[in-house]
Amino acid sequence: MDASLKSAPKRAAAVGAALPHDSAHLHVTGQASYTDDLPEPRDLLHVAVGMSTVAHANVGGIDVTPVRDAPGVVDVCLAADIPGANNFGPIIDDDPIFATDLVQFVGQPIFAAIATSVDAARKAVRLASVDYEELEAILDPLSAVEKGSFVLPSETLVRGDPEAALAAAPNRVSRRVEVGGQDQFYLEGHIAMAIPQEDKCLLVYSSTQHPDEVQMLVAHATHRPANDVTVICRRMGGAFGGKESQAALIACIAALSADKTGHPCKLRLDRDDDMIMTGKRHDFVIDYDVGFDDTGRILGIDFEMASRCGMSADLSGPVNDRAMFSCDNAYFLENVRILSHRCKTNTVSNTAFRGFGGPQGMFAIEYAIEDIARALGKDPLEVRRRNFYGKDERNVTQYLQTVEDNVIDEIFDQLVASSDYQERREDISAFNAGSRILKRGISITPVKFGISFTNTLLNQAGALVHVYKDGTVQLNHGGTEMGQGLYIKVAQIVADEFQIDIGNIRITAADTSKVPNASATAASSGADMNGMAAKKAAAKIRARLTEFAAKHFDVAEADIEFGDNEVRVGDTTVSFAQLVQLAWADRVPLSATGFYKTPKINYDRDTFSGQPFFYFAYGAAVTEVVVDTLSGENRALRVDILHDCGDSLNPAIDIGQVEGGYVQGVGWLTSEELWWNSRGELGTHAPSTYKIPTCSDLAADFRVELMQSNPNPEDTIYRSKAVGEPPLMLALSAFHAIRDAIATDACPAPELRAPATPEAILDALDTCQELNDE
Ligand code: MTE
Ligand code: HPA
Ligand code: MOS
Repeated sequence: MDASLKSAPKRAAAVGAALPHDSAHLHVTGQASYTDDLPEPRDLLHVAVGMSTVAHANVGGIDVTPVRDAPGVVDVCLAADIPGANNFGPIIDDDPIFATDLVQFVGQPIFAAIATSVDAARKAVRLASVDYEELEAILDPLSAVEKGSFVLPSETLVRGDPEAALAAAPNRVSRRVEVGGQDQFYLEGHIAMAIPQEDKCLLVYSSTQHPDEVQMLVAHATHRPANDVTVICRRMGGAFGGKESQAALIACIAALSADKTGHPCKLRLDRDDDMIMTGKRHDFVIDYDVGFDDTGRILGIDFEMASRCGMSADLSGPVNDRAMFSCDNAYFLENVRILSHRCKTNTVSNTAFRGFGGPQGMFAIEYAIEDIARALGKDPLEVRRRNFYGKDERNVTQYLQTVEDNVIDEIFDQLVASSDYQERREDISAFNAGSRILKRGISITPVKFGISFTNTLLNQAGALVHVYKDGTVQLNHGGTEMGQGLYIKVAQIVADEFQIDIGNIRITAADTSKVPNASATAASSGADMNGMAAKKAAAKIRARLTEFAAKHFDVAEADIEFGDNEVRVGDTTVSFAQLVQLAWADRVPLSATGFYKTPKINYDRDTFSGQPFFYFAYGAAVTEVVVDTLSGENRALRVDILHDCGDSLNPAIDIGQVEGGYVQGVGWLTSEELWWNSRGELGTHAPSTYKIPTCSDLAADFRVELMQSNPNPEDTIYRSKAVGEPPLMLALSAFHAIRDAIATDACPAPELRAPATPEAILDALDTCQELNDE
């Protein structure tokens, strides 16, 4: 036995350690390769897309001759050139890659120009002449409801008897609220590079959350079997849902261009085109009518929601379903009706965005809760607590899933104390009494977010683990890396399974040729599912090594222990690498796949009932703001967050997700405004007009804590919880803090729309002014 190995310090567990992102050193030195950084193949051509300039029209004809004749242009690709299906819709075939005789939004792709340079392609696409016969355009969800224009049928979920409960309620408030959409504003825009391979195969590098779907849709469009298409994504420079379904459009255009020309082709959207051509978060208009008792308890509630889906279904079905599943947030709604309209508008087809409809549903219920408190003259905190789900009773959601893991009371108690909420509320009242122009406000809001894809079949994942003869490991799984830290988390899990240093694990790109049929990395379940699949793959190899060692050293399997980069075999200790070497020499297979499917879930979409979610993630935030009532500007002064990640796989990554999610949510609710003109042209298609939060918008005092000693009661990977999306909705506290700052005795419940831009705040102040003057 090697004495130096025995006395070496014990290897610290990787799972649960606050390790930096595996690519942090590459990110900060500019060495991380994104798709556009890959070495460009010889004879690469560049693609630009010719887009519709009108919102709704029959197309009489398309003349691309001037495009073809432009300098540098090699070829043009139109719908007629598509050998397979002209569709990139993920669920329904209503998303043409190139429009043919009908255009349905400004920015819809009609053709591609393929040229020797990006500039040449971009200049050329403007030279096409398209003969539009304009049709009436529907540009907002309410007009769509009026005209009965929907991408999918409206859905209703009813529990209890909301009508009777509302009629009998001693108090009642109704209101229409509006909440805006949001552009994903990933730093890396959409991009794909397609490279023809031998014997008609095709390799596609795509910035996508869903390589499998890109593979399938490229195969369909180019008329190939799936096994002739390989899709690879090492990392994305952010995705936030924007690359769940719509990366396929970009990849299909690159692939079709490559097939048409026989050259490698790259399509990289510039920021404006990306914002105009690809979908965003759905904006919603929600009418609610809530009945409640004198303590603020909700007796009955009715929601009617209309969302802007844009011109096609895309993921709007599941997005709106999740909005219906989320309009309880953390509250028990005994008698409830939710009517959901999926509006077809002549605007870009909206898609996934962090929270996936959840934020919009929660926006509605939190507004209602605030209205109840303000109607009764109570602190909204009290009304929130009054309506929380119970632990043993009042614990069944409107879709009939029992909430078994409720920790919202504990989170509230802890956060109210640690944030000095009560004291600060009094300080704020005192401050406001003495301040005419600057007004402060504070709010605490909860989050309860269901974890799993609501479409049960998507809750599956695969992994592939190779152990090489020198004891090093290559790790692959179906998940994609978009900055969220999935790859380091899964590597930590594999490191612990083998009890080796994380430095011995090489993380590799998502690749459809390694793990097939993977679901999108979405619904926050990337680590839950791929972590479990990778653990299973590694466990298979570990079991083979154990079996081999028992035989080779003639000891019982129970006497074999992996630890500290070595393996104790009875009285002997060998290094992990030595054991691997011996096992290889004995012809033990050192590669394995792992597969995981989320247990317990089942859900009947026809009745909107069952257990769509494996478990819930919880959190709460307190935000204090100051509003300048002359300019309408606001600043966050202090933010306190307590978030539930179960037993965190990596607290450094998770705190980053909580901070980033919160700030992105604040952007959605306060500064990021999408604006279309009366012709359906998006006016806000660049950072000059579309305001995402910057570092200077962060509260100077920003405190984020994860709940401690709080294992997931469900058997998830190391009892952790998903963290990607839930924290975004913590930002509702910022919105309601602004509303709190605007409120006065005469105007306790101001009419504030989201995003609460300075204009929206001034409008709310104006409406209040009329009441204040009375
Ligand atoms: N974090 C970063 N840095 N970049 C992203 O694009 N996407 C979010 C979230 N956090 C995103 C992110 C979204 S929409 C989801 S669904 C999850 O990450 C997906 O990753 P996970 O399932 O591994 O958490
Ligand atoms: N969340 C995120 N993405 C999805 C979902 C979901 O529930 N369903 C389909 N894609
Ligand atoms: Mo996230 S919206 O589920 O990609």
